[in-house]
This record gives sequence, structure tokens and C-alpha cells, in this order.
Amino acid sequence: MARTLSVFLAFFIASAAVAAPVENRYSQLGSLQCNIDRFKIVTGLVETGSAVKKIDTTNPDTATAVAAAQAGLSSVGDAIKNIALALVTGKAAPGDARTAVSQGLNDTRSALEGINDPTVTDSVAAAQTLLQNAIDDGNAVIADCK
Ligand SMILES: *[C@@H]1O[C@H](CO)[C@@H](O)[C@H](O)[C@H]1NC(C)=O
Repeated sequence: MARTLSVFLAFFIASAAVAAPVENRYSQLGSLQCNIDRFKIVTGLVETGSAVKKIDTTNPDTATAVAAAQAGLSSVGDAIKNIALALVTGKAAPGDARTAVSQGLNDTRSALEGINDPTVTDSVAAAQTLLQNAIDDGNAVIADCK
């Protein structure tokens, strides 16, 4: 997941740079603040993914929850990729992709909240903090990218 997002991030930044001189055609690419927010949610998701990977999955219930959290993050990554592809090709971002981002973040949050294993409290808390930051950045995207 982290590698997919990194590749995507490089692609997105490169595309934004190429598109900059023709900004009227690509006005969907958004303001500087909007693009900073997009950058932050993508990097935040990569960091969340690394933090989730550090949770010890010896306990089978924890392993199941971690797998669910990773599935949620992976669906967020796919949805963001769809939005970015629409943006760089000048098409309207698909509305259901935004719902998919929100749903994937919520699924990840629920999965982490469901972990009830005292031996992994710290690593779960670290992942939750990073996830909450990514959720906040996602809300900033919605506020700033009009
Ligand atoms: C995700 O959770 C937030 C806050 O609880 C809620 O407002 C939003 O509708 C949820 N997203 C989806 C797709 O259910």
C-alpha cells in the first residue's frame, strides 16, 4: 500500500507541475492550499499505513482487526487514485470516490478502535493519531478544493 501511494504521489506531483502553465484548462487542479491538503492526506495515509504495519499481530483478534484496517486504507488509496486520475485528465472527480475515501477512513478507524489487546496499546494509539490527522487533512481537502 505504501509503495502504491508513493508512486501515485510522485505521479500526482509531476502532473500538477506539468499542468501549472495551463492552469485555466486545469482549474480543477485547485489552489495552492488545496494541493497542499492533497499532498498532506496522501503522505498522512502512507504514514498511517506504516504505523498499522508496526502493530504486533500475534493475537489473532488483533491480526483480524489490522487486516481490516489495512483493507480500509487500501480502498482509500484506490479512491484517491481515481480522483487524481480524473483531475489530471480534466474530468469531473467521481462523487462516489469521495464517499469511498470517507468510508475507507471510517472502516480503518473502526477496525483500530476494535483492538482490545493491552500489549499493543501504544502502537495502536500511534496509528490512530496518524489516521486522525489524515482524516483532518481529508476534511481540509473538501473545504479548500472547490
Ligand atoms: C464517516 O464518519 C463520519 C463521522 O462519523 C461521518 O460524518 C461520515 O458520513 C462517515 N462516512 C461514511 C461514508 O459513512
